[in-house]
Amino acid sequence: MIKIEDLHIKVWEKEILNWVNLKFKKWKNYCLLGKNGSWKSSLSAFLMWQPNYEYISWNVEIDWENLLELSPDERSAMWIFLSFQNVPEIKWIKLGEFLRTIYNIHLKNENPEQKDISPFIFKRFIKKHLEELKIEEEFLDRDLNVWFSGWEKRKIEILQMKLIWPKYIILDEIDSGLDLDAFKSVCKLLKNLDSENNTFIIITHYFKILDYLEIDKVYVMKSGEIFKKWWKELVEYIKENWYEDLK
Ligand SMILES: Nc1ncnc2c1ncn2[C@@H]1O[C@H](COP(=O)(O)OP(=O)(O)OP(=O)(O)O)[C@@H](O)[C@H]1O
Ligand SMILES: [Mg+2]
Repeated sequence: MIKIEDLHIKVWEKEILNWVNLKFKKWKNYCLLGKNGSWKSSLSAFLMWQPNYEYISWNVEIDWENLLELSPDERSAMWIFLSFQNVPEIKWIKLGEFLRTIYNIHLKNENPEQKDISPFIFKRFIKKHLEELKIEEEFLDRDLNVWFSGWEKRKIEILQMKLIWPKYIILDEIDSGLDLDAFKSVCKLLKNLDSENNTFIIITHYFKILDYLEIDKVYVMKSGEIFKKWWKELVEYIKENWYEDLK
């Protein structure tokens, strides 16, 4: 479980999150909703690691450990995966090497005795995943996400999820910028990943993704606060009435 208690964050003297309290339980799926600029992505970034955030008062646990004591690579290798609203493009890092590195870190976390998988073996291992996701093998030699299409970037994120099996998967508007076919494929792949061993935290403005991923609970953010917590039925209200008159 990710448990956030009384989290208050300032960045450059500006208060951004106000006394946020919430829980993301294991095996459940959540929707994190709110209008543009309600600090949803900032909260996600904080969970993944944000060096320039100043915590005023906080207690953030993940599976009974202090999340804030974990480095970003520990968080990602063991627990959290953030599918970015804007997927970063990173020059000079080859996709294949990146995937091999995160896979090796993940394996070492599972078993400290584990030896690094060589590029040769990794290439053979990753082949089945590339085929399944219809990603050309030559992508492995391209710079990470540089000039990838929106759909290709999402497939690479799903490939990462398949490699490291994160427990908590934050989908920050994974449904934006995809055509209908790509959107459906992404949703089906995510549905296949949805299991009793992971928790999806879904940020969306369109809700169609919820036809594929069953949610349990909804958190609505407003001006950096958790404005409302309710069961999944709240989505139906928001779909019809948007955020008007929500109390
Ligand atoms: N590091 C930062 N420093 C200053 N302002 C920031 C920082 N990070 C985010 N913001 C500001 O915080 C506000 C909330 O942004 P955020 O991206 O978290 O909203 P959001 O709820 O994800 O919105 P959207 O639905 O449009 O994606 C914005 O005004 C943004 O410019
Ligand atoms: Mg956002």
